This record gives sequence, structure tokens and C-alpha cells, in this order.
Amino acid sequence: MLVETLPDYDALSERAARLVSEEIRRRSLRTGRAVLGCATGSTPIGLYRRLIARDGPEAPDFSRVATFNLDEYVGLPPEHPQSYGYFMREYLFDHVDIPADRIHMPDGMATDLDAACAAYERRIAEAGGIDLQILGIGSNGHLAFNEPGSSLGSRTRVQILTEKTLADNARFFGEGETQPHTAVTMGLGTIMEARKLLMLASGTGKAAAVRDALEGPVTAMCPASVLQMHPHAHILLDEEAASALAYTHRDGIAEVKE
Ligand code: F6R
Repeated sequence: MLVETLPDYDALSERAARLVSEEIRRRSLRTGRAVLGCATGSTPIGLYRRLIARDGPEAPDFSRVATFNLDEYVGLPPEHPQSYGYFMREYLFDHVDIPADRIHMPDGMATDLDAACAAYERRIAEAGGIDLQILGIGSNGHLAFNEPGSSLGSRTRVQILTEKTLADNARFFGEGETQPHTAVTMGLGTIMEARKLLMLASGTGKAAAVRDALEGPVTAMCPASVLQMHPHAHILLDEEAASALAYTHRDGIAEVKE
């Protein structure tokens, strides 16, 4: 695991934007396209803002990009302001020249959700797999909406959200707005098939989950700990998110802090 600690959220977002842009350029040159796995939530907003602000030779060419999002609430149509489809249009898709037919979101409105989940897996495979998957981490260690207890080999499926996740995400829902209790999420097994993973974590609220994910045992109780099994997992932390780590992590090596 390559773990990098940046001074603050801005530096983390800038570093993430550079890594994502470089990966889009590299994959586009090599294969003529790039398949990007996208996350939602507060953490990647700074990354998306920087991606759309880049110009000149620094600007990533989204005309060659296909995207697959990690998750979507069940029962929220894409035009609902709290849906992840809406989030992605607001923060990224409406600002880049990505072809609409290359944007893929899990379908939380399907009448047959299991069939829609299987179709999502097929679409990822047909696209040749995900080159770079952007990830956040829940304060309970969830990855996408794979809550504690999720099989480390799980596939795209419907997941019931924990009380902790519902409480953490309640801030996005206004008075009287119904917050869905279930979501469609890529599974941990699906995520682990991406060629590269880029996980971002910011703030003290993530410090314990980051410590458990990076330095604890690999366990379904902390779904993000599965990152330890990936050959190309790059983790970007700000100082606050790194504050509970017992080790310094440098160049893929962990040493006990002095
Ligand atoms: C969102 C997702 C979630 C978030 C996590 C952290 O697509 O997969 O796992 O990454 O809940 O959310 P924020 O960034 O809002 O703290």
C-alpha cells in the first residue's frame, strides 16, 4: 500500500486531481480510453472541482473516459437532488466532455434490482474493467456502501445501510425529506478487481476507521481493510485522517512511530 499524508484537504484534493489526470492520460494513450470508478460524498468534491478546473495540457480528456459509480440509493430517481446521479452531474459530468452513454450509475430504481446489479457487473466487464477506482471511507470503515459484515468477495448488490451511515449522511437530507435505508453498491470483490485503487480520507472523523483499515486485521468488520489485499492501492490522507495511525507509512513501508 502506498500511503501518503498531505497537510490538509486542499493539498489532498490537489494530489488526487494530479493522480487521476495522469491515469486518464496514461490509459488513453495506451488503450485509447480510460475507465474511471467514481465515488460520491463530501471527500471527493475537492478532487472533482480541480479536475474540471484544469486547463491546457493539464486538463484530462474526458471524451475518452467511461465512468462507473460505486453506489446509488434505492428509490431515488436520478433527478432527485440527493441521488448520486444528481451529485455526479453537479460536481463532474455537467462540466466535462464525457459522452453520456459512457456514464454508468447503479440503478436504484429498477423493478428487478438483482437483475440490474448483475447487468452492472456485466457492463463493467464489457468496458474491460475499471482502470482507477476512486474511493472514500465511512467513519465505520465502509467502502462504497459495503457496511461492516459485508463479504470481502461481495459483488454489486442491494445493501441495507447501518444506523451509523444513516446518521453520517443525514446531513445531506433536508427537513421532511425521506432518507433511503437501502442502496445498490458495488461489492468489495467488484472494487478489488479495479486495476488501481485511490482512497481519500480527510478529517478526524475518519481517523479511527483509517487506522483500522490500514493497520488492523483484514476483516469484514472493517470493509476498507480489504485494501490491504490490493496490489495497487494508493491512499491519500490529510494530517487529521492520519492522526490515529501508529505507524509512519513511507514508500510502501510501515514503521512504528518514534
Ligand atoms: C460514496 C461512497 C461512500 C463514501 C463514504 C465517505 O460513493 O462510496 O463510501 O465514500 O461514506 O463519505 P464522505 O466523503 O461524505 O465522508
